Amino acid sequence: MFNTIKSEGVIARALKNNIIQLDTVFLREFADNPRKNVDNHPIGGGDGMVLRPDIAEKALQSVLQENSFVVNLSPAGKVFQSTHAKELAQKKHIILLCGRYAGFDHRFTQKYAHMHISIGDFVLSGGELPAMCLIDSVSRFVPGVLGNTESSAQDSFEDGLLEAPPYTHPEIFNNMKVPEILFSGDHKKIASHKRKEQLKITAKNRPDLIYLIWDQLSRQEKTLIEKIWKNG
Ligand SMILES: C[S@@+](CC[C@H](N)C(=O)[O-])C[C@H]1O[C@@H](n2cnc3c(N)ncnc32)[C@H](O)[C@@H]1O
Repeated sequence: MFNTIKSEGVIARALKNNIIQLDTVFLREFADNPRKNVDNHPIGGGDGMVLRPDIAEKALQSVLQENSFVVNLSPAGKVFQSTHAKELAQKKHIILLCGRYAGFDHRFTQKYAHMHISIGDFVLSGGELPAMCLIDSVSRFVPGVLGNTESSAQDSFEDGLLEAPPYTHPEIFNNMKVPEILFSGDHKKIASHKRKEQLKITAKNRPDLIYLIWDQLSRQEKTLIEKIWKNG
């Protein structure tokens, strides 16, 4: 599964330039039986098979270093945020635990994981896709991974708000025009327009983010948001 990000895009380039390294460990290689089973029935009943802690431990120990930071990918973890990505970008060696079936035996993740991360309130069949989301997002904060034209500084969440909607040419598309102000060359006016657009989109789609920065907003900004919330 990881071949996709190893061969295409920003991560592939970062790997090629040796800015990051990525290795995968296959749990079945550590199985202790000829059928290569790595799971067993859940004790106490319940759905699905559980990944055995003794086999997972052997796999983990094959790559564990003194400075390893172990992240367990699980719907039961804390929901992944940009702040987690920045924190993880400081680590030298990260191990991502990707579950399957009903997940890892709790004792294994309890003993070894430093952090439990969910990528959202939904359940996927395995931890590989969440791991790839995390790898991509964390790598964006590793110096040298993004080129100058790809800076993350103006991305959503950087100032607590969603990014202002982007536009390019042609100027008219399906009778919709690029906002006139963006052609003005007046950087102050453009910045103020973009800030308003950020507030509008965030107020509509992510009111939870607005509450987090409410005290940092100006009186005018608060009035704009209250209007949006009132009028829908
Ligand atoms: C089918 S899921 C297990 C779900 C588990 N029974 C539950 O309800 O919490 C199998 C594996 O996929 C991964 N996974 C699924 N959804 C995820 C999410 N939203 N965030 C992070 N990992 C997830 C985890 O590694 C998990 O162990």
